[in-house]
Amino acid sequence: MTAVMNQPMAGDLETRFAHARKPDPIAASETTSSGISIDGVSMVFPGAGNAPAAVALENVSFEAASGQFCVLLGPSGCGKSTLLQMVAGLARPTSGTVSVNGRVVNGPGMDRTLVFQEYGLFPWLNVLENVMFGLANKGIAKEESRVIAQRWIQVVHLDGSEGKYPHQLSGGMRQRVAIARALAVEPRTLLMDEPFGALDQFTRISMQKQIAEIWTMTRKTILFVTHSIDEALLLGDRIIALTPSPGRVRAIIDLPGERPRTQQDLINKREYIDIKRDLIEMFETPAEYQ
Ligand SMILES: Nc1ncnc2c1ncn2[C@@H]1O[C@H](COP(=O)(O)OP(=O)(O)OP(=O)(O)O)[C@@H](O)[C@H]1O
Ligand SMILES: [Mg+2]
Repeated sequence: MTAVMNQPMAGDLETRFAHARKPDPIAASETTSSGISIDGVSMVFPGAGNAPAAVALENVSFEAASGQFCVLLGPSGCGKSTLLQMVAGLARPTSGTVSVNGRVVNGPGMDRTLVFQEYGLFPWLNVLENVMFGLANKGIAKEESRVIAQRWIQVVHLDGSEGKYPHQLSGGMRQRVAIARALAVEPRTLLMDEPFGALDQFTRISMQKQIAEIWTMTRKTILFVTHSIDEALLLGDRIIALTPSPGRVRAIIDLPGERPRTQQDLINKREYIDIKRDLIEMFETPAEYQ
């Protein structure tokens, strides 16, 4: 109770969150023809038996422009995975629309690939075969798909490990296979659900560098889920901050400065220090007080 009473008042917070802007409702006419557009999306899961329905997402609207690295940042249970699955076409919103590159998403497509936190590798396939997997679905001949897979294996620094099976790899290596597999099919849009959440700090830093390099090289539209404010600041062009359950857009922050950013930038550069402080304060403040 005391904590609630000590919260700053609405106007006070808004003026201090100088970098954040309140989400604007996106009019249909403003929807970009490329990139990702989330428009008034809600998701209600029916309760099992007599349990009440669970509102996972409520009226979420934002855009990620083509080629943008957009980060979904929010606490556990706020609907980040649900939202990503909608963009992947694996779930449908209860209301609202999800569009990618100008088309309303009605199901999965080769133009979008999803990298899961749990890697999602096939344990009976080796590294090369795992990376080649999606290419067969795309109708690419075996020899050509081997060459393409080999190239992406090199990009994620796994050459030499082509014949290894997932159980013979570390967590970081498995995640790199998953990333290579996702990229090998040349999607325009890459969806990443907490891809580095299970990794130790050193591997995570190295993976963050690699994904920043891959983004610089390919300029894919990336929608990237994380719990980590530092990771969001390091990688994102744009941060979509969500409220705890149900997930609503709390703020949209377009990050300033040159890319790629380094851990040192986050520690030393005023702009990132300020945004980090704002975000910490925002997440410590119940949404109803903003
Ligand atoms: N299939 C489902 N049936 C019922 N409820 C679900 C289902 N999937 C998700 N939920 C509920 O929707 C809410 C959002 O879940 P979601 O997995 O999207 O959260 P999240 O932000 O990804 O969390 P985390 O950071 O822990 O991964 C949660 O309350 C969850 O219990
Ligand atoms: Mg999740």
